Amino acid sequence: IETIGQLIARYHSFFEEGIVNTLVIAAFTVLFGTIFGTLMSCMRMSKILPLRWFAVAYIEFIRGTPLMVQLMFIFYGLPMIGFTLPDISWIPNFSRFSAGIIAMSINSCAYVAEIIRSGVQAVDYGQMEAARSIGFSHGQAMRLVVLPQAIRNILPALGNEFVTVIKESSIVSVIGLADLMFRTNDVIAVTYKSLACLAIAALCYFAMTFTGGRLISLAERKMNHGK
Ligand code: ARG
Repeated sequence: IETIGQLIARYHSFFEEGIVNTLVIAAFTVLFGTIFGTLMSCMRMSKILPLRWFAVAYIEFIRGTPLMVQLMFIFYGLPMIGFTLPDISWIPNFSRFSAGIIAMSINSCAYVAEIIRSGVQAVDYGQMEAARSIGFSHGQAMRLVVLPQAIRNILPALGNEFVTVIKESSIVSVIGLADLMFRTNDVIAVTYKSLACLAIAALCYFAMTFTGGRLISLAERKMNHGK
């Protein structure tokens, strides 16, 4: 405990910078992951076969390969064939940030797509049939009958995914992005106090996931009120 106190007193700026960068990565990933994941789930459920095939292949491949490989492929692999992410002078480490956000968004997109699809398909097919039988078009039935019920399945799982993204973002430390994990390693390197440093990192991550989870369930309860 004493060591932890001393470490925080001396190296708090390291941990703070790490937390900020972790939150930046996670926030952009949640944003892009949700947008593109929604599109991907539409393609996955589409009647247009090539779109559906593409989505199935994408989702299977991304979920079947490690996020670390995807990240390193984008940051170290692609530059070898000329796809170098630019560095912008007024944003330090722009190429690392963009590689981290792109890789994590590509990854989260696949998981979000499956969350939405399973949420929609968990609504009994009788709901669609009933809506169609009283004259709704497929689109109307989807929008007015199926989706409002699917939302109740989707939101909690999506909240889970957001929390997962915060934790999984620690992988960006392997491309030298100064997130919480990376800065924790820096402090270990100069102090040799692994146990205390990692305990601090764990507490910081927990504070983020716990707060995030609370905020999400608060939002969920707001949306469910009156039900
Ligand atoms: N760490 C695992 C991997 O490398 C899980 C990634 C989970 N990603 C997510 N967006 N839920 O594949």
